[in-house]
Amino acid sequence: MDASMLEETIQNPNPYPIIGELQYQDVWNLCQQARELAWDADKDIDWVALKDELSILPEEVRVAGAEWWSLRAWMEHGATPYGAERYRQAVYEHLPFEIKQHVANFIMEELRHHEASFRIADALGGYQPSPRSDYFKLVIPKFHDEKEEKQMSFYAGMAVNTLFEQLSGELLAARYRNARFDGIKHACKLILRDEARHVQFGRILMKRFFDQLDVEEKKMLGNKFAGKLRGSLLNGVYAVVNLPEDERKRSSHARALAAEHGLGATYPDEEVEIIATALQQIRDDIAPYDVPIPRIPEIEGETDPPMQRAAATL
Ligand SMILES: [Fe+2]
Ligand SMILES: [Fe+2]
Repeated sequence: MDASMLEETIQNPNPYPIIGELQYQDVWNLCQQARELAWDADKDIDWVALKDELSILPEEVRVAGAEWWSLRAWMEHGATPYGAERYRQAVYEHLPFEIKQHVANFIMEELRHHEASFRIADALGGYQPSPRSDYFKLVIPKFHDEKEEKQMSFYAGMAVNTLFEQLSGELLAARYRNARFDGIKHACKLILRDEARHVQFGRILMKRFFDQLDVEEKKMLGNKFAGKLRGSLLNGVYAVVNLPEDERKRSSHARALAAEHGLGATYPDEEVEIIATALQQIRDDIAPYDVPIPRIPEIEGETDPPMQRAAATL
């Protein structure tokens, strides 16, 4: 190939040094676990049996379940472009091999969560590749905003992301308990096992890197966490509390119906309780690092001064 063409396509001016020496044994341990605990969404779940079992459910329930698992599939997919950006960043910043390996594992794992989820939606009667509600079409893209991510260092940003993994892991655990069909229960269990590793990665990063952050950076991380939670995840992703009235009613009804029939879903009120408990756990976990998370009024209630209370969106 002509050398001048290569210059046009290669944007990283200096890929070297490409680090091959392990620096973080605890991260490498996670990479090894990921290899041992790899699973296959196609082969490890009996899709034919699941489809058969689900076929006896009333049409309305299957439609609600398919919507629910489509949403789960969109969410899992949302983690993959985020992961791809982090991989690119890890290469540009010459990070050690085990960090790049973990990020690549993360992408593959989120992709298999996505696959398991859209296959469940299909078994229920049809995966929806796009949300039917216009409102929702706007919510999912806000899930990952690279401009926001770029304001944080690689390790701080990834640690914040794993706080969300902790929250979604708690919700998923409740959905695992709700699931009454073997295929759905097994998929939830396999996904949870991967998520536990993602959470563990966040804990390692916090332990290793949070002490190095200054007060302003810590404040920014807390604000980013609260902003993302309130701005997109409570808008129908983790819970429905911040959805507009009509969409909240419709969405709540569908979730409740899916939960009532043991499709691996959660009731809207239950979701708020789980998020409140998990939020308290996260506050306790990050307390030693002095990262302040602003109050989340939709979940934790109002104790702010009256002026702010009037402006809140409860
Ligand atoms: Fe996931
Ligand atoms: Fe994850």
